[in-house]
Amino acid sequence: MGLRLPKHLIFAATLLTFLLACSSNSNELVEPISSEGGNQDATSALSPDTEERQDGEGTENLISFENEILPIIENACALCHTGRGPGVPHAKLDTAAEISAYAFAIGAVVDSGYMPPWPASDLSVPFLHNASLDIDQRELIVEWVQAGAPVDVDGTTQVMPTQEVPFLISYDQELSSANSYDGERGQPDEYRCFIFDPELTETKYLTGYEFIPDQTEVVHHLVGYRVTSEYREAANRKDAKEDQGGWSCFGSTGLGSDEILTFWGPGTGAIQYQEGLGLEMNAGDFFVMQIHYHYDVEAPEDRSTFRTVWSTDSDTEPINITTYSGPAEIPCAEWEEGPLCDRDNAYLYAQAQYEGIVQADQILEACGYTPDDFAEMTNGIASSICDQPARFEGYVSAVLGHQHNIGASFRMTLNPDTTDELILLDIPDWDFEWQFAYYPEEEIYIERDDIIRLECVWDRSLRPNNLEPSYVLWADGSNDEMCFAVIMSYQK
Ligand code: HEC
Repeated sequence: MGLRLPKHLIFAATLLTFLLACSSNSNELVEPISSEGGNQDATSALSPDTEERQDGEGTENLISFENEILPIIENACALCHTGRGPGVPHAKLDTAAEISAYAFAIGAVVDSGYMPPWPASDLSVPFLHNASLDIDQRELIVEWVQAGAPVDVDGTTQVMPTQEVPFLISYDQELSSANSYDGERGQPDEYRCFIFDPELTETKYLTGYEFIPDQTEVVHHLVGYRVTSEYREAANRKDAKEDQGGWSCFGSTGLGSDEILTFWGPGTGAIQYQEGLGLEMNAGDFFVMQIHYHYDVEAPEDRSTFRTVWSTDSDTEPINITTYSGPAEIPCAEWEEGPLCDRDNAYLYAQAQYEGIVQADQILEACGYTPDDFAEMTNGIASSICDQPARFEGYVSAVLGHQHNIGASFRMTLNPDTTDELILLDIPDWDFEWQFAYYPEEEIYIERDDIIRLECVWDRSLRPNNLEPSYVLWADGSNDEMCFAVIMSYQK
């Protein structure tokens, strides 16, 4: 989670600059509107002198809140900042008065591009639920705030999201594990597998789900597996072996058969498949949730939960999930030194931490590389490209990418360097905090032998300074790296 602090600092700095810019633009500016927990200020922000602020400025460029600002907020912000959206604890924008009370903060976060979060660039295929703002919309919001954020509707006017919200409005089950885990092994990175049992007695299709992390300070990411009923006893045995809930499980579940069904990282929110699609599960099948805990800080027992929405409609098209990995080989920069800058040492160190499981060599080999291919990348920036066959046939429902904290950019391309080339997902500025699943707007059909190219770039300057210099490679810890992608697909 190394990026959290710097980002807040950047945000605080932008807010300051923004406030200064605002106040120098206009000496008549509004009384400072609270940007934190601003509800109580809502009425003062809507005080009648909003009108007066326009005096002398000329009326030709009056921006209408109702016709110009509110629609932008409803489209790009309301999905997360109303109801039980993930942004509500930070800025609650349920009414016009609340928007007004947060106007300065809104101007600052929009101006800096911090909000709305939408890491994918326009080089990617077009996506559903795209909540990003274009430059005109950004400027309009900033101008409106600089003009004193006048509001021409009643303060009680409700803000209604026009995009699908990133959380489940209703669900059928809320699952959790029988026992929780509190990090008692005392190591910074723990991968813990838990049985989450939906108690299925017939075939059902999972059409939507949401992982709700409990101890958000330490829950780094989750991989959810679908496991068939015949492995239940083996899972029970593993679960019973250790005192606390779940079992230690670097790499994968450690069961004979498992299939990744979902991925969650900060910002992911709910996954809701397009109408008519779902993940098939049969009677007795269950989930194993592999939670990566990263203990930078002490945390109480974690009780993360998983909400499910099921369909019993046998016409549901099953979702298929395919994962892709590319090398992550990030040598020390030429100005860094220490024993762990030697790749062999770094590899052994990772093996010792993760019960012998380090994926780096296997992935290098699958992509046809050796560590030598990366040895020259010593200017602090390293990158990798890996082409591999799609291994499935079908239409794309959703795509997502995953790197850790020093990820700089991510790209996944279908059939690169051909006339059919299509960039499935381009994230020019990787942000660990916002790992969305992206749903392509158009139908994209992929054949088994089509090529999927992963391109990942890392920037060592994003590495926390307190860490010992080390060659960074593909392994499970949050200070290790990954270059990983998922395609969710279906047939019809
Ligand atoms: C995908 C969900 C999402 C969308 C869309 C979104 N936000 Fe946010 N917003 C959040 C979350 C989560 C936070 C807390 C982020 C953090 O702590 O780093 C936040 C924080 C904020 C803050 C408080 C910043 C701070 O650190 O005090 C403001 C103000 C804000 N958002 C405004 C907006 C505006 C305006 C829009 C639309 C233009 C928007 N947000 C769109 C989720 C979202």
